[in-house]
Amino acid sequence: MSEFSTIYKICIIAFAALILHVSGNRCPDMECWFVQEKPGRGGGFSAAMSQEKSMMFIRTEPHSEESKTQQHPLPADISPARIYYVTDPAGSFCQLPLHRPKGSVKKPQCEINPFSPQPSIVPWARALTDTAQSPIYLQAEWLSVSAQGLDGKLVLSNVMRAPSGSQEPSVILSIISKTAGVRSRLGERVMLDCGFWVDPSSPLFGVGFSVEWRYQFRGEGRLVLAYDAKNDRFADTTEMGAELDLDALYKTGNASMVLEEAQVRHSGTYICTVYLPNVLAQVTMDLDIVEPPSLSVFPNPLPLVVPGQSVSVQCEASGFFPLTLDLSWEFVGFDGKSLSLGQGSVTGHRQASDGTISQSTQLELNLARLDLGRGGEVTCVAVHAGGTRRTNVTLNIIGVSAPSIEDSMAMVAVALVLYGLIKIISWTFTSSGTTDLDRNEKKEN
Ligand SMILES: *[C@@H]1O[C@H](CO)[C@@H](O)[C@H](O)[C@H]1NC(C)=O
Ligand SMILES: *[C@@H]1O[C@H](CO)[C@@H](O)[C@H](O)[C@H]1NC(C)=O
Repeated sequence: MSEFSTIYKICIIAFAALILHVSGNRCPDMECWFVQEKPGRGGGFSAAMSQEKSMMFIRTEPHSEESKTQQHPLPADISPARIYYVTDPAGSFCQLPLHRPKGSVKKPQCEINPFSPQPSIVPWARALTDTAQSPIYLQAEWLSVSAQGLDGKLVLSNVMRAPSGSQEPSVILSIISKTAGVRSRLGERVMLDCGFWVDPSSPLFGVGFSVEWRYQFRGEGRLVLAYDAKNDRFADTTEMGAELDLDALYKTGNASMVLEEAQVRHSGTYICTVYLPNVLAQVTMDLDIVEPPSLSVFPNPLPLVVPGQSVSVQCEASGFFPLTLDLSWEFVGFDGKSLSLGQGSVTGHRQASDGTISQSTQLELNLARLDLGRGGEVTCVAVHAGGTRRTNVTLNIIGVSAPSIEDSMAMVAVALVLYGLIKIISWTFTSSGTTDLDRNEKKEN
């Protein structure tokens, strides 16, 4: 146990050093909303919430009396009951994205809620409260804080405990993700970051924990993976290709989940929850799968056309996600003239079994109404969140009045061949003297 906690302490120092390195040891004063159910009303779905301004002064070591009074002029618009002097040994609140830049109107989002410790009922965390847990320790003021960094990437959830009646909570459990918004293409390896820290001086330290990853999309959820560290056991799930690095989990509290190969069905919200006996914290992150389309245009090559004819060309965009796609056509003539040809007739979306979408558009080029000169490149353009894709085919219009050099040369060649033929024929006629043609002519005469 002592060996274990030494290792753990080293880890904490490393964790804190990592964080403090970024922030340069200065912890921000954090403005938060203190949100709770309005007292006097029963719980339940429609319980009214009250929201009060609140302030947290954060130190990595316990606040001294002087630091409390001298260094912090108390904000006038905040009730003294909502001012907290927080001890955060790991410095989780001290990270840069949680600092409000000087003079900036934008502030990091932060919310404090009352928290009630209670035994967990999920199977992979039930074992944590099998044995009686220090109930006196649980009789205190518990608060949970969730905050989101200004960079949009950092999310944090801390559970804090203050002795009853005190305004000086300490962080007991901290959970952080640096990937609140992740975007991935199909087939890529995706890491959803989640790391946690437990105060080693807390009785909740070293008595086991559980990690749970859930997936949520449009109200539907499923368990992706769950690990019960107390029994060293994974819960049974149907999810393939989702992994947790147990070594990193025990050594540094790294509960990050890796999805080996991103697929459309992975798109959605993920919740990383860490359970301690009677206490839990969770962070939420979004994974967006964004895959641009592949385009193909056909027929390719296009048939030769003459002015006045119509030609139809189709462009198929496939394998993309999400749904929103803008298809259009452009034309660049051999003479350099460019023209927008509109979007053509766009079909509905079709979804493949892997969840990717395809859609196509057909363009009718009516050369009786459209002057495209001698032709050029017809380009299908697909604008998608994953990027813009273009592909083109060459349109050749033959027999147009202004001949090109190639056309003129062809005409000269044809003329030469015709001339040669006539020469040969006339030579044949004159040298043989009589021909059928001659005979017929003579008869008619
Ligand atoms: C946590 O683990 C994941 C994968 O197991 C790794 O990619 C990531 O770099 C680790 N994070 C830290 C901070 O060590
Ligand atoms: C047509 O496609 C080729 C390569 O696929 C490209 O080099 C060319 O610039 C494109 N032409 C136009 C007009 O977009």
